[in-house]
Amino acid sequence: PSSSLVLDPDFTVGEVNPRLFGSFVEHLGRCVYTGLFEPGHPAADDTGLRTDVLALIAELGVTVVRYPGGNFVSAYRWEDGVGPVAERPRRLDPAWKTVETNEFGLGEFMAFAARAGVEPMMAVNLGTRGVREACDLLEYANHPGGTARSELRRQHGADQPYGIRLWCLGNEMDGPWQTGHKTAEEYGRLAAETARAMRQIDPDLRLVACGSSSSSMPTFGAWEATVLEHCYDLVDYVSCHAYYEEVDGDVDSFLACAQDMEHFIDSVVATCDHVRARLRSRKRLELSFDEWNVWYQRAFHAADKPEWTVAPRLLEDSYSVTDAVVVGTLLITLLRHCDRVTAACLAQLVNVIAPIMTEPGGPAWRQTTFYPFADAARYGRGQVLRVEPVGSRHDTAAHGEVSLLHATAVVGADGDTTLFAVNRDTSRPLRLTARLGGLTASRVAEHRVLADADRHARNTLERPDRVRPTPLDPDNGGAVLDGDQLSALLPPLSWNVIRLT
Ligand code: AHR
Repeated sequence: PSSSLVLDPDFTVGEVNPRLFGSFVEHLGRCVYTGLFEPGHPAADDTGLRTDVLALIAELGVTVVRYPGGNFVSAYRWEDGVGPVAERPRRLDPAWKTVETNEFGLGEFMAFAARAGVEPMMAVNLGTRGVREACDLLEYANHPGGTARSELRRQHGADQPYGIRLWCLGNEMDGPWQTGHKTAEEYGRLAAETARAMRQIDPDLRLVACGSSSSSMPTFGAWEATVLEHCYDLVDYVSCHAYYEEVDGDVDSFLACAQDMEHFIDSVVATCDHVRARLRSRKRLELSFDEWNVWYQRAFHAADKPEWTVAPRLLEDSYSVTDAVVVGTLLITLLRHCDRVTAACLAQLVNVIAPIMTEPGGPAWRQTTFYPFADAARYGRGQVLRVEPVGSRHDTAAHGEVSLLHATAVVGADGDTTLFAVNRDTSRPLRLTARLGGLTASRVAEHRVLADADRHARNTLERPDRVRPTPLDPDNGGAVLDGDQLSALLPPLSWNVIRLT
């Protein structure tokens, strides 16, 4: 199999917004407790944050972190998580059937965000709560002082306002599983009034309305249209969520799931623009793909789960090479739509369907999926080129015929270009040729690949470095640049980063 493409700086999609490389921390399982926060751990700092995890987060290149949920937020009282820790209540979390101790709350999260150097993306509870509580939280977080809630924050040790700009108006309100689930009409009105009131307090906010929880929701499309009829002019983004998994060993369909993400993005963009036309609005909405990942959800729903315990092991998926390559295809798809998808969050960050794993009292380590994300976050900055691979294709049961090559390219501020490429063929290498139309590059700085003879290989506590990217030299198919012709042999089922300088 072979594929060719053209890299031409005259044809661009747009500039990548750094918020595309966000992640997500929910009060779920061990994401917070014994994940990023573990007082008493040998690597914990003075606030209980694990410095070994902070170091991995820095290496991962995460820019934004969404918090505190997820399904969790829809029954959460933010007041429970502020003030003296000894006085904070233990509560039932109905979403995950766990006990929330509230030892970690807004102040601890903001300390984490500062130390990790990430932008906070805060979600408000629009499941069991409404306009008033969202405004109270905003006052506590962002108002300088001189009012009840802003003074409370100052008493709690945060003299300066947090200045949180990004806010999610609830979470997955289209889902019947959501505590306080709403119809599109109900949610659209609530989102509009919450947005209006929040902007009255702080006009300089970026607000996200809930879109669909997946493209397979029965209300997909109609939900966005109805919600946006109510709040189009009051919000900046509509959210998208998508999780994928390999079903019944159909690896080809799994490797093609970026087709669904593509369809999702195109459909939501079309719906936003339809509402824009109807409302004769000049504003163009952006998409916040604020939950995406591989998640073995069927196994999660089928399993017996602990109930009403503190920080149980939940959703601790162990990711294979195949999963990492799929994560790579999803990153490529987000980059290919960077003109409209301007924020995104890999769900989640630590332990819970996460690129980073920890053991209580023990080490922290990288899953296979860590690597494509770190590559994209590092080199996927700049202008995305319009890249259209032409060549070998194959048929898949779930997504029809797809190209074996999935690719995009980004020209950085320094003029260097990075080509991200996935070979979806599980058994054969793919011959890639690219013509550099107008792109100036003199050599291949690096061709790095994530692949393995065993597509099920994964990193574990016992062997945390079983899978890692390796350089591919020209003798083994690594990329070669000859004049304006780039060629490479991409290994079967592989994630490739080819950097041209
Ligand atoms: O990320 C896990 C869960 O997936 C989130 O809590 C929810 O928003 C989504 O359904």
